[in-house]
Amino acid sequence: MQTLELDPALLDALRRATRVAVLTGAGVSAESGVPTFRDALTGLWATFDPQRLATPEAFLRDPALVWRWYAERRARVAAVQPNAAHFALVAMATRYADFTLVTQNVDGLHLRAGSRDVVELHGNLARVKCFDGCGVVDAWDERETPPRCRCGAPLRPDVVWFGEPLPAEAIARAQQAARRAEVFFSVGTSGEVFPAAELPRIARAAGALVVEVNPDATPLSPLARFALRGPAGVVLPRLLAALG
Ligand code: OAD
Repeated sequence: MQTLELDPALLDALRRATRVAVLTGAGVSAESGVPTFRDALTGLWATFDPQRLATPEAFLRDPALVWRWYAERRARVAAVQPNAAHFALVAMATRYADFTLVTQNVDGLHLRAGSRDVVELHGNLARVKCFDGCGVVDAWDERETPPRCRCGAPLRPDVVWFGEPLPAEAIARAQQAARRAEVFFSVGTSGEVFPAAELPRIARAAGALVVEVNPDATPLSPLARFALRGPAGVVLPRLLAALG
């Protein structure tokens, strides 16, 4: 594995490629001030128990607690801005005829930065849906905790909870993009949550050159031909600038 930043072979591969896919995780939003999940001290799952907050059972047990936690996260995300990494990915998309941005993040920051057609594997905090499956709703009454759907069931955030399947169309699109990609970037993810963590493996097995952007090594690192060790908000703009 090559760990040198901006190796000419990487730049060459990126200049020749026409099909590029990018998987992002919480690390891409870290520089915006959104906490990650698994960082030992600051990660959300270091402070909160996911079994009490991010499962359908937790919601049934204490819907008000779960609703409030997500409402607070929604407000925090609304108060921050996309960072240089999000904007670099907007610019990267314009270089390639076939570019797919897949994210595990629910913060909507790629869309706010200007990325189009983002494949959101784990949903989006800004959306709310009926717990009983009526679908996504456009408006809800914040005074209720949790608000109710027209059918009477509680509303819940439109995010994927532990034990739930991913949106079928999103994971299918992500897998297709991984199979097609000549270069596959894994940016700011610990690679511990499946099926998202399967995507770099699919890409590698189909012949893609895998690039990891992360200050730390992860279980995905052995797949990566190039590991760019630094914050995504520094590494990605530098990479774009070097490509010219
Ligand atoms: P994690 O918190 O597991 O991992 C964040 C990764 O970002 C770590 O590998 C950090 O080293 C890296 N990182 C931190 N700062 C960075 C920076 N400035 N630039 C680049 N990388 C940085 O987050 P995810 O891998 O996204 O799922 O977690 C995957 C899923 O687990 C989430 O989507 C969420 C969670 O449970 C659901 O809620 C369904």
